[in-house]
Amino acid sequence: MKALEAYNLKKTYRQSNQVVEAVKNVSLSIFPGEVLAFLGPNGAGKTTSIKMMAGLIQPDLGWVRIAGSDPHRNPAALQKMGAVLEGNRNVYWRLTPQENLEYFGVLKGLSHREARKSGIALLEKFDLLHKSRTPVQQLSRGMQQKLAFAVALVHQPLLLLLDEPTLGLDVEATEDVKVLIREIAASGCAILLTTHQLSIAEELSDKIAILQKGEILAEAPTQELIRQFSGTAYKIEMEAPLDKARIAELEAIGADVEGGKIIYINELESLYKVFNILKNLPLNYVEKEQSDLTEIFLQIVREGTKSNV
Ligand SMILES: Nc1ncnc2c1ncn2[C@@H]1O[C@H](COP(=O)(O)OP(=O)(O)OP(=O)(O)O)[C@@H](O)[C@H]1O
Ligand SMILES: [Mg+2]
Repeated sequence: MKALEAYNLKKTYRQSNQVVEAVKNVSLSIFPGEVLAFLGPNGAGKTTSIKMMAGLIQPDLGWVRIAGSDPHRNPAALQKMGAVLEGNRNVYWRLTPQENLEYFGVLKGLSHREARKSGIALLEKFDLLHKSRTPVQQLSRGMQQKLAFAVALVHQPLLLLLDEPTLGLDVEATEDVKVLIREIAASGCAILLTTHQLSIAEELSDKIAILQKGEILAEAPTQELIRQFSGTAYKIEMEAPLDKARIAELEAIGADVEGGKIIYINELESLYKVFNILKNLPLNYVEKEQSDLTEIFLQIVREGTKSNV
């Protein structure tokens, strides 16, 4: 069963005489254990979409199912979902981590005993046990973010919605959050992740949806998207400079040779011809040149039209 299914979501904000079509048409689904990176420029409608999926705002059109049930009609659906929204708004700053975990655990349907037990286990896992009785406002930002994760996980949800979970975190805390996301997905939880750090999306996600002006422009498995947008260029570095005769042979089949040692090729077919010319000369490496997600993202968003991926 799909952990999350959103279909045709639409949301228009109306304030005084301003009308903002924040989300025009968003459909997506995530299976258990999958990480979907939900990407898009500022103002694309990501947070608005997530709030609709989390049951916080009512869509104008379309519907959401969390493990098959509608969070807008059936509050029990929310017990299968955890969310870390922008700015850690899912924790109470005056309460301690332990109090937060117990409070939200009970709110999500656990008994007090279960909430306490699960809370302590999570504090231990997130290395926060020594701060369990310190008010949240006195924790560092990274600790607060880890607690926000713990609170979202206290009832063992099937779906985790993460809106910029690494915003403002230092390198080490960001690495911790990445490890956590991997672990949570490996335990079978479905994760929707928004981030502007595209390297994180590339590393963690199984699939990617790119949103612009309230519409999904591209949706594809991460590796497929990268493959599709990458050329077929190869780079070969030799251990020692090549002789003139070989360089001439290589150039004759369309390869470029730089500094006598580095060979560039544009097609897979020439790669075999090149190997034939090089025979058994020692190579340092052969590398396929790949677009990274940042280039792909910018290309899709600049074109601004739906791609066929
Ligand atoms: N409560 C609101 N009232 C009116 N307009 C809103 C409200 N919330 C968001 N908007 C507008 O809806 C559009 C989408 O905003 P949203 O916060 O969903 O974008 P986002 O993709 O999360 O952007 P960011 O990457 O900056 O977080 C923006 O034009 C924003 O100004
Ligand atoms: Mg946002």
